[in-house]
Amino acid sequence: MLNALWTPTTVGGIPLPHRLVMAPMTRDRSTPEGVPTELNAEYYAQRASHALIITEGTQPSADGQGYLLTPGIHNDEQIAGWRKVTDAVHAAGGRIVIQLMHTGRISHPDNTPHGRRPVAPSAIRPQGAMFTASGPQEMPTPRALSTQEVAATVDDFRRAAAAAIAAGADGVEIHAANGYLVHQFLSANTNQRTDRYGGSLDNRIRFAVEVAAAVADEIGADRTGLRISPGNPYNDIAESDTAELYPALLRALSPLGLAYLHIFHAGDEDLLGTLRALWPTTLILNRAGTDIAARAKDVDHGTADLVSVGALALANPDLVERLRSDAPLNTPDPATFYGGGVAGYTDYPTYTV
Ligand SMILES: Cc1cc2nc3c(=O)[nH]c(=O)nc-3n(C[C@H](O)[C@H](O)[C@H](O)COP(=O)(O)O)c2cc1C
Repeated sequence: MLNALWTPTTVGGIPLPHRLVMAPMTRDRSTPEGVPTELNAEYYAQRASHALIITEGTQPSADGQGYLLTPGIHNDEQIAGWRKVTDAVHAAGGRIVIQLMHTGRISHPDNTPHGRRPVAPSAIRPQGAMFTASGPQEMPTPRALSTQEVAATVDDFRRAAAAAIAAGADGVEIHAANGYLVHQFLSANTNQRTDRYGGSLDNRIRFAVEVAAAVADEIGADRTGLRISPGNPYNDIAESDTAELYPALLRALSPLGLAYLHIFHAGDEDLLGTLRALWPTTLILNRAGTDIAARAKDVDHGTADLVSVGALALANPDLVERLRSDAPLNTPDPATFYGGGVAGYTDYPTYTV
């Protein structure tokens, strides 16, 4: 069972022993300064037998922070913190890429180091509340970035990618999914700009392509991945043109020769097939919420090259060994997903007979 999943492959320049990837998961357990800790290093090292670890979303700048206690990768203390994590994962035989997540309008001033109003493509307030130190609060209307500031934000991603490599990461994943800043540029309901970053489809994909080009130029395309989530309404996204937008995005990204594309699959099988056919390099698929046997079939059938797993990797440090030996799996506990300490983080047991 699950045979194709266990065959080796290469992503970008990185040889991988099999094809089961740990999906990026925010855990809100860094320091208030966004510095990863020894505990974070232990958590990731426990999961080093995954083919590749994609870390939790990590802010490329102070403006990029949306949630409490998320890590950053834009100053020396954060680089030193990440170095502990990458060293621990490498010592345990693993490979790790840092996900660069700028949350854009999905933020609250209380959660950022500078207390400023969140920034976004346009000044459109997201529905919903954000958890802050004083409890849930409505997210405010963000401030629209000026055209010049958009270019500066592209540079923030470039610098953060360089910092990730300086911290010992094997690469970075640009988070262009799930309603955060890059996705906010893609979607017309969050991007009503009238400059070259808004309006037409070519303009709306421009920011994503510029970020990818800058990061690839800085650290090498073979160390650069990008995550999308076509049709995912999470974080108040309402896309009406996925069938045109995502193929256009992939056509524009293709010449860059990125290491991989990571798709959070929201259900449109036709679009998934189109994107698979268009994409020239590795495809990692996250078929959210389905069992692993179903995901493994995507590798068997050639729908994906690798599959990523979120909650079950969180709850099973030895997920790979358990699947290979048909052992039972621990159940993820949502109460400890976000914030806290050891409980529900590093204390999920490995399997013993
Ligand atoms: C606790 C938690 C935190 C998450 N944080 C992120 C994140 O930081 N970046 C991201 O791209 N996706 C994030 N996700 C989404 C996962 O990467 C994944 O797509 C989702 O959990 C569905 O896959 P699964 O059914 O295997 O869990 C998160 C999911 C969970 C459960």
